[in-house]
Amino acid sequence: MKTLTLTAFTALLGSAAMAQDITGDAAEGEAQFARQCVSCHVIANDAGEVLAGRNGKIGPNLHEVIGRTPGAVEDFRYSDAIIAYGEMDPAEDPTGTAPMGDDIEGMVWGVDNTVAYLQDPTGFLREALDDPRARSKMAYKVRDEQTAHDITAYLVSFSPDFEAGDETGEETGDDAEDDAATGMETETGDMTTGTETETETETEADMDAETETETAN
Ligand code: HEC
Repeated sequence: MKTLTLTAFTALLGSAAMAQDITGDAAEGEAQFARQCVSCHVIANDAGEVLAGRNGKIGPNLHEVIGRTPGAVEDFRYSDAIIAYGEMDPAEDPTGTAPMGDDIEGMVWGVDNTVAYLQDPTGFLREALDDPRARSKMAYKVRDEQTAHDITAYLVSFSPDFEAGDETGEETGDDAEDDAATGMETETGDMTTGTETETETETEADMDAETETETAN
């Protein structure tokens, strides 16, 4: 598998208004997804074919989640907070992480807001909605920022229509998509079981320590 050298762009991330470059390593993200996400999420296409995960149903199906309106899976009972976030005008997003561009109407999950959400779902929604009582139903945090980038790059690979870097037309997203688009079977998990409750799953997040990618700074 081709190694991505996109981490070089990490330095750009400080500025929230920058293009939504994909700086993660989708292959690493695949491994982390199998560990940290599959207890609650599946990635299954419209035909119902499971592309990743084990049919976790505590969280919504993440197929094509990048580029999608937050809170949009039918039949999934989302928190009020994520629904409100999905209804927000991206231009008024106080976190400055919402993707914007000519082809984007309304709020969608892009790179920056997904990376931020994954690291603190409730904290992120509180900031975005400017509501200290907002609460995401996702009671899990990705501990490491680079891991959040890697997992996001992996999620992008299931959103073939998503154009990364819309804002300034950077081309860095394409490689990441191709790299991970090869429909991998993810049965590599040595994920812990027993996270079927909506409590903080601190122990799972600890496994981040194994990640070999350099940490973002
Ligand atoms: C403990 C269960 C759990 C774990 C573990 C978990 N999630 Fe979630 N996730 C949820 C729930 C529940 C929601 C719905 C949130 C809401 O309604 O506020 C959610 C929502 C999401 C959303 C928004 C989806 C949408 O349709 O708007 C994304 C993206 C997401 N999770 C990604 C991930 C990723 C990536 C991981 C692994 C790092 C992960 N989640 C781990 C339970 C979990």
